[in-house]
Amino acid sequence: MKVGNLVGLVGWRGMVGSVLLDRMQAEGDFDLIEPVFFSTSNAGGQAPALAKNETVLQDAFNIDALKRCDIIISAQGGDYTTAVFPKLRAAGWAGHWIDAASTLRMEKDAVIILDPVNMPVIQTALSQGGKNWIGGNCTVSCMLMGVGALYKAGLVEWMSTQTYQAASGGGAQHMRELLTQYGTLNAEVKALLDDPKSAILEIDRLVIAKQRGLNATETANFGVPLGGSLIPWIDKDLGIGKNHDEPGWGQSKEEWKGMAETNKILGQGEGFGSTAIPVDGFCVRVGAMRCHSQALTFKLKKNVPSADIEAMIAADNPWVKVVPNTREATIKDLTPVAVTGTMTIPVGRIRKLAMGPEYVGAFTVGDQLLWGAAEPLRRMLRILLQA
Ligand code: HSE
Repeated sequence: MKVGNLVGLVGWRGMVGSVLLDRMQAEGDFDLIEPVFFSTSNAGGQAPALAKNETVLQDAFNIDALKRCDIIISAQGGDYTTAVFPKLRAAGWAGHWIDAASTLRMEKDAVIILDPVNMPVIQTALSQGGKNWIGGNCTVSCMLMGVGALYKAGLVEWMSTQTYQAASGGGAQHMRELLTQYGTLNAEVKALLDDPKSAILEIDRLVIAKQRGLNATETANFGVPLGGSLIPWIDKDLGIGKNHDEPGWGQSKEEWKGMAETNKILGQGEGFGSTAIPVDGFCVRVGAMRCHSQALTFKLKKNVPSADIEAMIAADNPWVKVVPNTREATIKDLTPVAVTGTMTIPVGRIRKLAMGPEYVGAFTVGDQLLWGAAEPLRRMLRILLQA
């Protein structure tokens, strides 16, 4: 059935929403739709210049206004989804809901969208009348854009991932806090840094004292200093109450998502009548701005030559790029600084590990706001418009 092109946009002013609008403009998506801009705070105001006929901002909590839309894209966040989505469906709305928030991700009738990886899963759901399309966790989406080929080929027995996640995963305020902390630390030792004869251990002593002395306002978002440090826990504690010897004990929600979402994206595991592929590891916040990086360890089902692994990864989609496992190429192309603001997903450090020929290591980086958030949403919009 042809999908109409009246598209409601909610949360377009926020960080993910702004990146989404940029990408939609860059790809000409607005040529294909009649956008309706919604607001949670300024209903009745002037819609942005991208508006065509719908020039007045609509109230994002007005179910009747939302019901007019054929498609709604929300980057407003989980609380909004929780508050509005059930009411909208209860009011009989049968349009397509595309959402960046995690709220609905694991629902039976929701598909986690990452079409370069799971177009068949999306197509099957579409043919069965699916209407709920949810963007995946940023780390999982960036990882699968990089190494999805190995999963598609059925080669992965298990995978362990150690992440290095950027401040942006927490939100705009988290990015500001990180930069402010860097500035505070620099200011503390600026005079000593400017003096080449100053003692590094004195600088170090002053920096750690400053870090430990940051007050509640200076650490309001992360809770502890991140500038010049790291935080090996992301999102909630899911392990509470579990037996110490269960695999889930002591796991963060971000770590839990690794296995749950990877399998759901691939159409595998619970709900698909097959066994889930084990994915586990540690998720760590680091002082990068908006690229999530991950060190991956694979146990493959068989010994595959490294050159074949590289070739499969490189051929998987137009955005993945294999970085040769050399020092020079790695430090140039496989960093958050190299990748930020680009659609490229580099995968490097591909090599056999000491544990045996089926054990393969890799390292990948992805812009958390592009493939990790905005891009799968606008691509789903295109899929619906073409359906
Ligand atoms: N949970 C992610 C993070 C955000 O904190 O980095 C994107 O899903």
